[in-house]
Amino acid sequence: MNRTNHPPARGRLIVFEGIDGTGKSTQIRLVADALRQRGYPVVTTREPTDGPYGLKIRALYANRGECSQGEELELFIADRRHHVDELLQPALETGRIILCDRYYLSTAAYQGANGMDVDTILARNRFAPVPDLAILFEAPVALGIERITASRGEHLNDFEKAEGLTRVAAIFAALDLPYIRRINAALPIETVRDEILSLILPLLPTPSSAD
Ligand code: TYD
Repeated sequence: MNRTNHPPARGRLIVFEGIDGTGKSTQIRLVADALRQRGYPVVTTREPTDGPYGLKIRALYANRGECSQGEELELFIADRRHHVDELLQPALETGRIILCDRYYLSTAAYQGANGMDVDTILARNRFAPVPDLAILFEAPVALGIERITASRGEHLNDFEKAEGLTRVAAIFAALDLPYIRRINAALPIETVRDEILSLILPLLPTPSSAD
């Protein structure tokens, strides 16, 4: 009931970042549930997306050698442009609380680990809204790999090779941006969830004015 001409409250963009196997998607589910219970209009999403470019990226998993570093970067950027235009920007404009599994810091870390210059990658992403908060999941690379292979029963794909992940982790560790908060993802699931909520809740409007 907005009788005045105030624009609707802008939403919030909260991104979950870190190496594979650190529990980001589990935590997004738990945190989304906790925020919905408190009355917030939550949207969960992920990159690579399920859109046309995201599907191409997922197809690359099997045959990574088939495209150059530059082409790979362009695909991630094209996927993100599509995501921003189709989902992120409209959701922000309608006051949603967006929880996004990976965003441009993943491009900096993964395509950076693949040999591209990190600052150039970040500059190429200036079109994308800056997140209100980036939660960086930190855990030993060996733990991430163990979780992927043991609990998911998956073989490591090309993005997930140990040596590469060590380089990815090093770039994540060196990122220094004001909206990044680091959490110890090796702690128990409920502890991690509570820490994430304690980072997010102070940034949110009161639920009644969120939409
Ligand atoms: P991931 O979140 O692991 O997807 P899924 O859970 O479906 O396997 O992301 C897939 C891989 O894509 C992951 O290893 C990281 C990589 N990636 C990049 O290399 N650059 C990017 O910009 C993004 C968003 C992801």
